[in-house]
Amino acid sequence: MSTQPYRTSPPADSTASKAPSRRRPRLLAGCAAALFAVAGLTGYALAYPERMPAALGDAVENLTGANPHPVQLVLPPQAPLSAVAKLGKQIFYDESLSASGKQSCASCHSASRAYGPPNDLDVQLGGPQLDRQSYRPPPSLAYLYRQAPFSIGPDAADAAAPPDFNALAQAAMGTQRADKVAGTTPATVAMVPVGGLFWDGRADSYQRQALGPLLNPTEMANPDAATVANKLAHASYADAFRKLFGPRIFDNPTMLTAEAMFAVGRYEFEEPDFHAFTSKYDYWLQGKARLTHAELRGLRLFNDSKKANCAGCHLSQPTSDGLPPLFTDTQYEALGVPRNPRLEANRDPKFFDLGLCGPIRQDLAQQKQYCGMFLTPTLRNSATRHVYFHNGVYHDLKQVMDFYNLRNTDPDKIYPRDAAGKVQVYNDIPQALQANVDYADAPFDRKPTDRPAMSDQDIQDIIAFIGTLTDGYKPH
Ligand code: HEC
Ligand code: HEC
Repeated sequence: MSTQPYRTSPPADSTASKAPSRRRPRLLAGCAAALFAVAGLTGYALAYPERMPAALGDAVENLTGANPHPVQLVLPPQAPLSAVAKLGKQIFYDESLSASGKQSCASCHSASRAYGPPNDLDVQLGGPQLDRQSYRPPPSLAYLYRQAPFSIGPDAADAAAPPDFNALAQAAMGTQRADKVAGTTPATVAMVPVGGLFWDGRADSYQRQALGPLLNPTEMANPDAATVANKLAHASYADAFRKLFGPRIFDNPTMLTAEAMFAVGRYEFEEPDFHAFTSKYDYWLQGKARLTHAELRGLRLFNDSKKANCAGCHLSQPTSDGLPPLFTDTQYEALGVPRNPRLEANRDPKFFDLGLCGPIRQDLAQQKQYCGMFLTPTLRNSATRHVYFHNGVYHDLKQVMDFYNLRNTDPDKIYPRDAAGKVQVYNDIPQALQANVDYADAPFDRKPTDRPAMSDQDIQDIIAFIGTLTDGYKPH
């Protein structure tokens, strides 16, 4: 059995998790002697984490905000950028590679916002005149360094031949969703879609991904790879290509763009800023920072499998081999996020962005059980975003929390009404496919007559906790 790295989340396989009252502050709260004990307890906690009895650990956590069970995180090695990655960085910031001449990768993936959108637009504008709109907001490019290729089920990624996703999807029929309960081992062995890049997982590697935006008519909008190659050959950094790949590289446009995309991929992989792990929560995990009362309460709610259950999908615990949590299980879910009426594409009432089953991704179009499913994004640096979900419908975390809390218990507050006055639940998924929407996992397991899973205070505290996932925290 794997050891629990820390105990704030109830261990799923222990009956102790059924007794949440154990972790209420009542033990010492209100007791004057407690404050006196704090200093000593913390010292003990940090010096002998493994020896501390459970109740004492909780008390330390409650009173000091310190992690009573600090862990050693296995962080990515830090090294200066290789020459290829340096070239990739220049490409990443090169606006001349776009048809408009004004747009680089960084225009939509801003370093100051964890390589997510630089502004609060629902979706970014692109194209030759920078007036074309796509229908998905840019995800953060941070914390993708451990993203596995797209697969369905446990073995697809290892197969020697290219996997046949339709055959796998057929084999997995009936198990399109894994049950998600915070604190349990992630369901990596389940036959469910997992991994990949983009909201629909359609690209497997940084390298294969990078040519996409350069050619996408609503993004950098080059007509073809030859145009990109020509721009690269005339870029200020063209000499670097010559040095790294030899002078013949410019004779072969296909090779040139492939090496350029490889370089961008190396930059995204090597640059420490893409996986900094300098959030307050990372320092807390390592015993180097203390959470406030609200942040700690938020963390517990986040991990509470019966209520908010955020950690059921946005994994919050280090892996058993010490890798820091990425706040995603990299699986796909249909949450039934409301339609965004501001998107141009949505003016057509027959248009639906259904993620895994299209329209951008085509190979799973027949697998209707996956319609409406999108990749679970990381929540690291989520507080720096100003646009949320695959259609950019929400613009702050309070709106996101209201969605999770009220979708089932008070759908009237989430979805519009039709002409007849009926609430149009799940209105961004055609009716025939709405059975794909997740109603099994907390907080989505409530019924209209139930009380919402979270109080206003709970929501505030969870938002406070999400704030501890922003990089750049300076521990004292
Ligand atoms: C006009 C805005 C725009 C530009 C310019 C742009 N992107 Fe993106 N990027 C997006 C959007 C939107 C998505 C999500 C699209 C989807 O899921 O279908 C995305 C997704 C990605 C992803 C997948 C991220 C994830 O979490 O799965 C990567 C990697 C990426 N872009 C890298 C780049 C690179 C490299 C460049 C420059 C060559 C670039 N982007 C230029 C808007 C942009
Ligand atoms: C059943 C799995 C699941 C659970 C439980 C869950 N999420 Fe999510 N979360 C997702 C998926 C999938 C998306 C993307 C959905 C989409 O865009 O259609 C998402 C998106 C988000 C986003 C938007 C991120 C972005 O970059 O756009 C936030 C914020 C978020 N979740 C927070 C939470 C919080 C807080 C909780 C607990 C109250 C929670 N989630 C519970 C799966 C889950």
